[in-house]
Amino acid sequence: MKKIVITGGAGFIGSHVVRLFVTKYPDYQIYNLDALTYAGNLENISDITDAANYTFIKGDIKDYQFLKTLFQEQQFDAVIHLAAESHVDRSITDPNAFIETNVLGTANLMNAFRNACSDNFENKLFYHISTDEVYGSLGKTGLFTETTPYDPQSPYAASKAASDHMVRAYGNTYKMPFVISNCSNNYGANQFPEKLIPLFINNIKNNKSLPVYGDGQYTRDWLYVVDHAKAIDLIFHEGKIGETYNIGGFNEWTNLELIHLLCAQMDEKLGREKGSSSKLITFVKDRAGHDRRYAIDASKLNRELGWKPSLTFEEGLSKTIDWYLENETWLNNVTSGAYQEYYKKMYS
Ligand code: NAD
Ligand code: TYD
Repeated sequence: MKKIVITGGAGFIGSHVVRLFVTKYPDYQIYNLDALTYAGNLENISDITDAANYTFIKGDIKDYQFLKTLFQEQQFDAVIHLAAESHVDRSITDPNAFIETNVLGTANLMNAFRNACSDNFENKLFYHISTDEVYGSLGKTGLFTETTPYDPQSPYAASKAASDHMVRAYGNTYKMPFVISNCSNNYGANQFPEKLIPLFINNIKNNKSLPVYGDGQYTRDWLYVVDHAKAIDLIFHEGKIGETYNIGGFNEWTNLELIHLLCAQMDEKLGREKGSSSKLITFVKDRAGHDRRYAIDASKLNRELGWKPSLTFEEGLSKTIDWYLENETWLNNVTSGAYQEYYKKMYS
């Protein structure tokens, strides 16, 4: 019997983690704590809302008094912390929102956790979910390992790096048991269409231009979100306290290579003439301070805990496109209203 609070469980990755824990561990009580920002959507987890071991709590990790009372009342055994502002482009236009949620919010959570257990952390765990972007940008070769020095380049990456440092500092200073994982770019169902893959799927579907930043030769390592959720499950249960684990897909693509693959799959699925979607590619002004290449060495996780990705990128991308095409209502709901304003501001 475990009582676990998962933060950010109405978001993209968090919803997959909540679903996995609720369905795989009927003996655990899972609490999903989420502020429901523009990125949070209860539709993402509508299939498990009625499960006996699931509770949703609407709340903001920026609000310490709220967290203090909640943690005091509930006496959680563990925290799996995913709530964050997560989009690099938004961090360029509004960096403070990232400092407030990602840095201060993480500290608030740890303070509430400390307070609720009076620094007696027996059988407790704080699991912090982070990103490979804390390591900065790679040249043509090399991989990020768990010992790569931090060198964050965007306000988003710097806020995540700061939160990682705070978690390690609480581990060292207050002996709070923690694990951290740093993952590469995720893709899959329920990702908000501000990130590359869902944004481009939506634009291709609607015959809108595909805004490629700069020369399109930026490289990312892509991982299917369900594989990330499975890695989180494994690290939560078998990871060594105080350790960091890198999670990645062993799957590097330049943006242009990825976009051409996406266009080809979309042409086929939509019954369009070969090559028609790639005609939508439009080179636009580059992102400020754009990191050239990310690539993760996930061999520690493979060697120590036996994890590996379950899908090829072609298979994962195909499943992802199918999900967006089959879930038109979800897509229409999240791209109406405020999204239109966001799109105009970022892309016009
Ligand atoms: P997301 O933006 O889809 O979801 C974030 C969730 O957090 C939303 O449900 C939102 O409502 C909630 N949230 C935001 N601010 C909050 C606040 N102040 N209080 C409570 N809830 C709040 O993000 P995601 O892509 O699912 O990322 C989840 C985590 O994984 C983040 O910590 C991110 O840094 C990390 N990560 C993401 C990726 C990726 O490719 N998306 C890769 C590696 C790591
Ligand atoms: P994104 O999905 O925002 O993830 P991240 O910045 O965390 O890697 O972007 C992935 C890559 O795609 C990145 O190199 C920026 C690029 N990109 C575009 O070229 N056009 C776009 O409209 C977006 C959103 C991203």
